Amino acid sequence: MDVPDLKKKFDSSFKKITHLSELESLEKEYLGGKGILKSLILNLKTLSLEEKQKKGSEINSLKVEIEEKLSQKRTDFETLEIEKKLGSPEDSSLPAVPLSLGRFHPITSILEEVIDLFRELGFHVARGPEIESDENNFGALNIPKDHPARDMHDTFYIKDDPEKKLLRTHTSPVQIRLMREEKPPFRMIAPGKVFRHEAIDSTHSSVFHQIEGLVVGENISFSDLKGTLEMANQKLFGASVRSRFRPSYFPFVEPGAEVDISCTLCKGPAPACPVCKGSGWIELLGAGMVHPNVFKAVHYDPKLWTGFAFGMGIERIAMIRYGIEDMRLFYENHLDFLSQF
Ligand code: PHE
Repeated sequence: MDVPDLKKKFDSSFKKITHLSELESLEKEYLGGKGILKSLILNLKTLSLEEKQKKGSEINSLKVEIEEKLSQKRTDFETLEIEKKLGSPEDSSLPAVPLSLGRFHPITSILEEVIDLFRELGFHVARGPEIESDENNFGALNIPKDHPARDMHDTFYIKDDPEKKLLRTHTSPVQIRLMREEKPPFRMIAPGKVFRHEAIDSTHSSVFHQIEGLVVGENISFSDLKGTLEMANQKLFGASVRSRFRPSYFPFVEPGAEVDISCTLCKGPAPACPVCKGSGWIELLGAGMVHPNVFKAVHYDPKLWTGFAFGMGIERIAMIRYGIEDMRLFYENHLDFLSQF
């Protein structure tokens, strides 16, 4: 057989290869020690010098061509094998699919921000349980059994519980837990969930988040309370924000105050402002000086110690910060909403 015919024969067998073992036997057939090319070369002996040179170089270039084709095919089989092992028919040289990173829920972000802010001021973080005793949630906080202030909290009680445990209605019971365990002076904040039997609407939820603050020491005064909260408000809402302290009533503080900030949207009374409803102020949190009866309940001497406390709603801060009008958006967990933060 002459070389061009041999080439055709090889090409037609080569095309039919579907497996590495077929490739290997073809390789042996053509390039092996007893293969076709070898026998052609041996046969050259019988030819004249001129023919020997011509046919010799034809055989040689066919040999190179066959080697290249087989080696390329071998690589293809090997790649296929690796891809099979990796379980994917994809091109492994393609750039990786970008990972979608998770992010914090806006309530978590604000919680962390407030915690960081008070940590910088030397507050440490305390936590209390969500199921509380009546005593910690009300009694020790100067809210006795028949006190009308209990009506302010629509409370979830644990059914048929002999101890009458309840879901805490505010983070203030952490004040009691902490004072029973620690000696003043200290500064603490207590973040967490609170529960109230509320009809759910755009500004109310039956589960929401608060951060409680408590500072106890010698000669702690109302001006310490004002300075601390004014600074916190500026950090949270911008340096130009002003704070207003309005007298208010919470049984566990005296004097008590409700703290407003100047409207972050209209920045002054604008009659049509949807955020402050034209008043120029937004109600933010409750605060006051710790009531002597609270100190007595935890066996602190009210003549020795004074302190202030405050409680702020995290949802409220997040709504003001992000301009969110409906609190329910925080709990519905639609990704369209959450991925904006
Ligand atoms: N616990 C009060 C509430 O939930 C807030 C508050 C805390 C007020 C501390 C004064 C001092 O409404």
